[in-house]
Amino acid sequence: MEKLIALCKRRGFIYPGSEIYGGVANTYDYGPMGVELLRNLQNLWWVNFVEKREDMVGLDASIISHHKIWEASGHVATFADAMIDCRNCRHRMRADHLLEDSLNKNVEGMPLVELESLLNENKVVCPVCGEFDWTPIRKFNQLFGVELGLVQGDDAKAYLRGETAQGMFVNFKNIIDSTRIRLPFGVAQLGKSFRNEITPGNSVFRTLEFVQGEIEYFFDPESTKWEKLFADWQEEMWEFVVNKLKISENDLRWREHTEKERSFYSKKTVDLEYNFPFGFKELWGLAYRTDYDLHQQQEYSRKDLSYIDPQTGKKFLPHVIEPALGITRSILMILSNAYTEDDKRVFLKIAPSLAPVKVAVFPLLHNKPELIETAREVYNDLQNNINGKIIWDDRGNIGKRYLAQDEIGTPWCITVDFQSLEDGMVTVRNRDTTQQDRIKIEDLTSHFNRLLITI
Ligand code: GAP
Repeated sequence: MEKLIALCKRRGFIYPGSEIYGGVANTYDYGPMGVELLRNLQNLWWVNFVEKREDMVGLDASIISHHKIWEASGHVATFADAMIDCRNCRHRMRADHLLEDSLNKNVEGMPLVELESLLNENKVVCPVCGEFDWTPIRKFNQLFGVELGLVQGDDAKAYLRGETAQGMFVNFKNIIDSTRIRLPFGVAQLGKSFRNEITPGNSVFRTLEFVQGEIEYFFDPESTKWEKLFADWQEEMWEFVVNKLKISENDLRWREHTEKERSFYSKKTVDLEYNFPFGFKELWGLAYRTDYDLHQQQEYSRKDLSYIDPQTGKKFLPHVIEPALGITRSILMILSNAYTEDDKRVFLKIAPSLAPVKVAVFPLLHNKPELIETAREVYNDLQNNINGKIIWDDRGNIGKRYLAQDEIGTPWCITVDFQSLEDGMVTVRNRDTTQQDRIKIEDLTSHFNRLLITI
């Protein structure tokens, strides 16, 4: 983790948030490489789950949202972590995480009293100072409240959304009325969510502000078997992570929620977990949430959110299956999975479709106008004909330029040398194998476009 975090900072992927003022814990900024990676990942997700499917539509709902949405969803009453402080060193942490890490036991969904007795029976000490001197365990609500300036009283109260999901439920009727989509169908949304998290670090794994990619897949439980739909979604999620994000299958596993940790309205919940440097942890949740959310939003808003089947005229609240992916958490997975060291170098083995830079172009020497001219032509041609960022670099020696590109995961580097001026060919170096091939300048665009689709 330390090496990865250092590389992320050194090469412009992830910086600590508000760093020059001493930082704000658990906030991060995405640098020039990080933002490209983030955009590529979101784009891949969107193309895969929205653009290429006729049963899906997209949405971009407001982050600032009515307090009643979160009262209806249950977040105001129950979206809380169990918090504990060490009286000796004042370190604050999540009691469930403390117990899980110390006792190697899953305590999700356990009531406060049971957490408290587990702590006392096992005399669990503070991981920072080693003392056993705790405050009582208490609940800490994760929603970020905001105050609206233009209105007064109860209506001035709003929340930054704690999940993108509720935007899909409160807009369900709008989507039905404004499109020709019919059940079964899904609504997908990419965007920021906010949670007042108590977390021990681990970079962007758990942050106050993070990007989610969520889908609410609506269906009629009388005509669609939820078990089959659920299994189909599990397959889609696995396929996306393995074949599109190129994550090794050995580092992935499914974990089904126990009855205790599952929300009361959920019939089944599974997590797709990735083997992060600090162990297997949730990446992508899949839950059958029944009609709970539509039902709650209908009750609190007193607006009819039901669906009318155009063939039978049957009026009902659809049920929903929800695949909820952490996009920024996936960034950490992609970077951990890609980080590779051998005896000579460090490189990021990122899938080319996700790589922040697709191709880097180098003139062999920076002070030879004839090399610069041809290399610029190559660069401009790739800029105009390849989807994604192309980089120009003429500083330092070629070895240093390769090193810099390896560390940001650029799959291919092109060098224009004196031979190129005679035979119209350039050297293309492969990031993973370091193999160098000579390729005709006129074939470069089709060569890279083919590779970008196939690998
Ligand atoms: N609508 C359901 C929902 O939000 P969740 O399990 O709380 O479910 C879905 O969140 C995904 O969002 C998680 O699997 C995780 O990848 C990501 N996530 C949740 N909280 C996060 C946080 N504080 N920081 C980064 N990612 C987070």
